[in-house]
Amino acid sequence: MSATLYQLQRDHIQALNHAYQARMAAHNLDSLAIYSGHANNHFADDHATSFQSYGHFIHWVGMADVQHSWLVIQPHQRPQLYLYAPADFWHLPTQLPEEPWVAEFDVHLCSDKITPPLTGRAAVIGDLKELANTTPLANVATLHPEGLVRELDELRMVKSAYEVACLREANRLAIAGHQAANAAFIGASAELDVQLAYLGASRQRESDVPYQNIIGLNEHAGVLHYQRYDLSAPKRRYSLLVDAGRRFRGYCADITRTYAGPDAPSEFGELISAMHGLKDELITQIVPGIEFLTLHEQMHRGLADILVSHGLYQGSAESAVETGVTRAFCPHGLGHSLGIQVHDVAGLRQPDGSPSPAPDTHPALRLTRTLQAGMVITIEPGLYFIPMLLAPLRKKPHPIDWTLVDRLAVCGGIRIEDNILVTEGGPENLTL
Ligand code: GLY
Ligand code: MN
Ligand code: MN
Repeated sequence: MSATLYQLQRDHIQALNHAYQARMAAHNLDSLAIYSGHANNHFADDHATSFQSYGHFIHWVGMADVQHSWLVIQPHQRPQLYLYAPADFWHLPTQLPEEPWVAEFDVHLCSDKITPPLTGRAAVIGDLKELANTTPLANVATLHPEGLVRELDELRMVKSAYEVACLREANRLAIAGHQAANAAFIGASAELDVQLAYLGASRQRESDVPYQNIIGLNEHAGVLHYQRYDLSAPKRRYSLLVDAGRRFRGYCADITRTYAGPDAPSEFGELISAMHGLKDELITQIVPGIEFLTLHEQMHRGLADILVSHGLYQGSAESAVETGVTRAFCPHGLGHSLGIQVHDVAGLRQPDGSPSPAPDTHPALRLTRTLQAGMVITIEPGLYFIPMLLAPLRKKPHPIDWTLVDRLAVCGGIRIEDNILVTEGGPENLTL
């Protein structure tokens, strides 16, 4: 890892310490303990579910798989990291990397699961469902105070230079996976083989992916969060949709590409090109001060133009939006905040932490913020042929070319998704 990244990480930790101290002072706190979380076993089994550490813990420590550990922040003191590292011959013990950022913490290796030492007025944040019952913490600390947690969430909305560098590297690794997935599709692979090609080229095991990769051939491309991988290739190859990411030091890439196969109607490839154009056009609109909802509405207008210009809709673009036709072709939001979580925190809040829910007309929108320099967001317009959503339109006299829709339905749908940094100078596309 480059000396520059290490320096950026130290700056990030120092800025975080400063910001936490200010918020703790405002909340009259002498100690704040952040719990890493831990994996839970399947019911009646001794095997655990897959795990990722609590986002606010990763924000400091940059490791996404630490369990049963604590970080304690106190005024004018170095952060205290209590890392659970038991003597264990079944597993490789937890180790901190030999990297300069570790020097920003006082590290305590703990052979047992501990209760963090807290002094004065204390608060604890994290997944405390079980801990609250089994430890004396509730007697000495406020558990997960919502107001403070909202403020800490807000700290994650604008990324530091270190976080942007991590997101850029996560994108670089994920892009290698996408290139391999495309090559596997050209080679007539099954969904599982596309997945294995993606994992290999992006250098990650399946339990480390930031979200379950969505790898859908043909109609499966129209299942928004398609979760299976067929073991054999279909006889006809119309399309492939790959929505797949990568973590780097806890930070997530979230990229989608859609490809036309050799058996696709020619219109499908043309629609994919048009959706790339719409994605690029929306990205050029990104400036500090613009409402994300405005961009989302522009996606619907752009989608309507595409439906009209490709003969799918034979009315005006305005009426395609007003009558809800575009929403049936694209039921999800334009994008979301991206960071330690794929759908990162505080997207549906105002900067002061008050709720800012998605409007009733666009219930799936995950980001209702005014964009600000330093935010990282996804831009992911979609166009799908989802029978369940199109069925109600068929019952009304919409000027839709159903013959064309039915011919394209075997392709499932299209989504194109890039990760964008908002800057004062305009958008910076981390996915290029
Ligand atoms: N991969 C999930 C999403 O794009 O939001
Ligand atoms: Mn996304
Ligand atoms: Mn995605």
